[in-house]
Amino acid sequence: MWKQTCFISKPWRRHACIGLQEAGTAAPGRPRITKGWGTNPGAGVVLYLGPTNVTALAPPLHQQTPGALQVQQPPCGRRTGSATMLLLHRAVVLGLRHNCRFKSPPSKLCVQACSTNDSFQPQCPSLTCSGDNCSTRGWRVMGTLLGLGAVLAYHNHRCRAAQESPRIYTREEVKLHRSPETRIWVTLGSEVFDVTEFVDLHPGGSSKLMLAAGGPLEPFWALYAIHNQSHVREILAQYKIGELSPEDKVPSTLETSDPYTDDPVRHPALKVNSQRPFNAEPPPELLTENYITPNPIFFTRNHLPVPNLDPDTYRLHIVGPGGQSLSLSLHDLYQFPKHEITVTLQCAGNRRSEMSQLKEVRGLEWSTGAISTARWAGARLCDVLAKAGHQLCETEAHVCFEGLDSDSTGTAYGASIPLTRAMDPEAEVLLAYEMNGQPLPRDHGFPVRVIVPGVVGARHVKWLGKVSVEPEESYSHWQRRDYKGFSPSVDWDTVDFDSAPSIQELPVQSAITEPKDGETVESGEVTVKGYAWSGGGRAVIRVDVSLDGGLTWQVAELDGEEQRPRKAWAWRLWQLQAPVPAGEKELNIVCKAVDDSYNVQPDTVAPIWNLRGVLSNAWHRVHVRVVP
Ligand code: MTE
Repeated sequence: MWKQTCFISKPWRRHACIGLQEAGTAAPGRPRITKGWGTNPGAGVVLYLGPTNVTALAPPLHQQTPGALQVQQPPCGRRTGSATMLLLHRAVVLGLRHNCRFKSPPSKLCVQACSTNDSFQPQCPSLTCSGDNCSTRGWRVMGTLLGLGAVLAYHNHRCRAAQESPRIYTREEVKLHRSPETRIWVTLGSEVFDVTEFVDLHPGGSSKLMLAAGGPLEPFWALYAIHNQSHVREILAQYKIGELSPEDKVPSTLETSDPYTDDPVRHPALKVNSQRPFNAEPPPELLTENYITPNPIFFTRNHLPVPNLDPDTYRLHIVGPGGQSLSLSLHDLYQFPKHEITVTLQCAGNRRSEMSQLKEVRGLEWSTGAISTARWAGARLCDVLAKAGHQLCETEAHVCFEGLDSDSTGTAYGASIPLTRAMDPEAEVLLAYEMNGQPLPRDHGFPVRVIVPGVVGARHVKWLGKVSVEPEESYSHWQRRDYKGFSPSVDWDTVDFDSAPSIQELPVQSAITEPKDGETVESGEVTVKGYAWSGGGRAVIRVDVSLDGGLTWQVAELDGEEQRPRKAWAWRLWQLQAPVPAGEKELNIVCKAVDDSYNVQPDTVAPIWNLRGVLSNAWHRVHVRVVP
């Protein structure tokens, strides 16, 4: 029960450690909700600071002026000394009811305050309380409530103002409101909302709502359909402050003069590492929300502008052994047996930012999100190669792929994999045309891309135009002059790219997605979540988690699809719920995964640092503070 309600206690805790529980279920030392009195159910809820407090009553919201809360006595028979009452805005009441999941929602709610040391103490400037500490705390609570009253009054005023004559805002104006300092605005359809006060009450956590700050809610509501309910819209309606200007109702278009003009529109939740070419990753809190990453937030790694290909005229050229090409339309590809598999893609640069913290590296500053998982469907490469007349040969050979994206000199993206992998039906290499049951999105290779399970993302060539079998690896820059690993001692003066093999199978990897580094967690119990994956079809057999920087370990619970032996192409999500050691003020949370070859991640970055910042798979660490 405590867990169900802790969302409301978080915003308060910063100030006065106020928490909630349903009536009659209070654990020792925990605050609880009891029936209140003196409420105006249509307008709000009473905050009752107990058990022996003096308090104030907020006037009805429409009469509130900032700071003008009246002190009143509670009704007779309910008196436990004096008490503070404050009317909360109806949106908060709705949020409380919804999140506390009351079987029969009480029409009146009460929130009790407690001291931070778990024993109930008067929280207000009461005469019944002696000692500086206590009265300071009391004043602090009172201050908080007065502040809240002011905020609500301000908010109410804005709501009413919006209803009377809706103000008109441009998208540019909305964009400026992305923080509590500038206030937090969002749009839905043509309406503009100031959700600053609601952010901390957001049931999914404030950080998720903040992803939409300054922009439209629709892309997030499309991902999380739970929002499409009348009570959610009702809550939002309370925060309306105006309308979008008519010309701003359609998203703005890009300029016409640059090669990226035709790039697709992207999901606003993506954390953009570079706009042109477009490279972006989902934020950690969304990354492991689902085992299958939704297409709009699947990480994107582009080296060039996204080609806009016509599916009707699209042709894939497969160069046959005699030099003759097989030219396949999309329809031709659909005639091969359709094969479907769940595969995780990871960029070699995932977690590069941790390497660059140690010493500068060249490359995009990927955090932990250059990895995602989808269900891919298409023709097996081995079937298509066989149709073109290819078979396994004794000598070394490579299957080279060329994309239809190219730079200003006409040079296309390219990469290759060994023919042995390509021809092995068990390796399940695909020419994919579907991602999570949909045609591939443009950013992810529409209409056809290569999927090479267990292999670094760079070989999964998108917008596939040509496939050939060659005695040597692809001559592409991205095969020969990039995506290779080197000793920490190698620098840009001494590097010899020909001396190192191209990266194919990736090493074992894991990362923590919750809590985030620098976050504050509550004492009691902590939930740690993350992902783990290994290359080459090696299954993750265990994830170890430490709360004390690696001194002691606990084994996390693995979720997600069962893995097939030697074909574990997809990640495991994992989680651990563990008690926070009593008295700890901070936690150094660490994770490391072990695969079925007993490969394990290295403990630190330094020994694996390399000038390109690839293969960054040291133990992942987050540091959090604990609030008592
Ligand atoms: N294919 C083409 N044609 N062009 C590219 O820029 N990037 C590669 C690979 N395939 C790339 C490409 C790299 S480095 C990665 S990590 C993956 O695509 C990323 O795939 P995604 O954008 O679908 O996540």
